[in-house]
Amino acid sequence: MTATSRAVSAEHFAYLSSRTAGDDEFLVDLKRAAAAADIPAIWISPEQASLMQILLRLHGAQEVVEVGTLAGYSAIAMARALPEAGRVRTIEVKGRHADFAEDWIGRSDVAGRIEVLRGRALDVLPGLAADSADAVFIDADKESYVGYLAESLRIVRRGGLIMVDNAFAFGRLLEEDCTDPDVEAVRVFNDHMAGVHDLQSIIVPIGDGLWVGVKL
Ligand SMILES: C[S@@+](CC[C@H](N)C(=O)[O-])C[C@H]1O[C@@H](n2cnc3c(N)ncnc32)[C@H](O)[C@@H]1O
Repeated sequence: MTATSRAVSAEHFAYLSSRTAGDDEFLVDLKRAAAAADIPAIWISPEQASLMQILLRLHGAQEVVEVGTLAGYSAIAMARALPEAGRVRTIEVKGRHADFAEDWIGRSDVAGRIEVLRGRALDVLPGLAADSADAVFIDADKESYVGYLAESLRIVRRGGLIMVDNAFAFGRLLEEDCTDPDVEAVRVFNDHMAGVHDLQSIIVPIGDGLWVGVKL
């Protein structure tokens, strides 16, 4: 019999969510402070953070690069999955977001493992050395994703991990009449990603769809 796939429904997600560790008190406080500071609540879910932590641990990752810091939530989550000497370099273009993230990273249990790099990611990434990272997480402006992927393939070592958020385009990927430029950009990126042969990758249906790829 041929295996068929079954859609992950909201009920399935609620079920897995109720069986996955949620945020600790520090991350709950960070989110509350971010809301009070008018920072949009567009961070990854605790379930996605957990999956990414498992992948980083399995990988034995030490050096991680993130594109899109926001309030520092995912950077802190990833840094917690690294060894003591590990490092997350996270890139943020908005000074207000970078200031908030630096403040909360400074108060976190992984303060020594995270560095916030300020600026446009397409300007910052070329300054990072080739083969200098074990993993990259891309979670910023969608129209630049193809460029971020090219830089990630240079920065990540062979066998390294590349994760890219929002493969389901905020849930609007399959809306035929949707011409939102961000949704279109995700569609272009997904088609591009599917054709990159030096990366074995798949969309994991968690959160808003997470591309997970290994550099061959
Ligand atoms: C979806 S949020 C990141 C969420 C974060 N990864 C988390 O889950 O906690 C996207 C962030 O990317 C930043 N951003 C947007 N365009 C950027 C660019 N060109 N370079 C660097 N950062 C950018 C935004 O300011 C925003 O803070």
